[in-house]
Amino acid sequence: MTATALQPIIVIGAGTMGRGIAQVFAQSGYDVNLNDAIPKALDEGVAFIHKMLERAMQKGTLKAEDALAIKNRLHPVRSINKTPKCPLIIEAATEILEIKSDISEIKKGQIDLKDGVNRLEGRMYKVEDDVSDIRGDVAEIKTTVNAMSDALITTSKEVKQLKAQK
Ligand SMILES: NC(=O)c1ccc[n+]([C@@H]2O[C@H](COP(=O)([O-])OP(=O)(O)OC[C@H]3O[C@@H](n4cnc5c(N)ncnc54)[C@H](O)[C@@H]3O)[C@@H](O)[C@H]2O)c1
Repeated sequence: MTATALQPIIVIGAGTMGRGIAQVFAQSGYDVNLNDAIPKALDEGVAFIHKMLERAMQKGTLKAEDALAIKNRLHPVRSINKTPKCPLIIEAATEILEIKSDISEIKKGQIDLKDGVNRLEGRMYKVEDDVSDIRGDVAEIKTTVNAMSDALITTSKEVKQLKAQK
């Protein structure tokens, strides 16, 4: 099978790995669908690739018309069930076993695409909830640390005063 027979491709996950993989494939002439479950992460992934291309243009290592062609080969997709059938699927999603096994089942055609996407979205909401819980815990810890630090300052002032009175 030739490389071009593997087009278009889809990269699932637009984080550190996914955006780099998508850029390399687009630069190599592939039509790339880049997907992320979080719209902001997808926008940031695409913006990052554009920034890398601008940088290469400024350095003189990439022509403007080539950069434009690469940008045109990169298609951000909000949902994997909105992509054309892709013979090559690259998974670069967060290291969570359940997410990876869902994507693997979808790739192998073991579960219906729509059911798989719904299941994945459910897991993403759960991850977002967990992240928001952790943020809440961190905020609480910060408040406690601040209060302890205030108490320490007050105590050390009192100790100084007592020492001065001696
Ligand atoms: N960063 C590295 O150096 C590195 C090296 C080797 C392997 N890896 C592996 O590559 C994978 C990705 O790592 P990363 O560093 O890019 O992580 P990352 O956190 O930067 O990006 C992961 C992205 O996946 C998205 N995502 C999560 N679930 C999804 C889903 N169901 N559908 C679509 N998108 C989803 C997240 O929103 C996030 O933007 C991990 O499995 C990691 O272990 C990373």
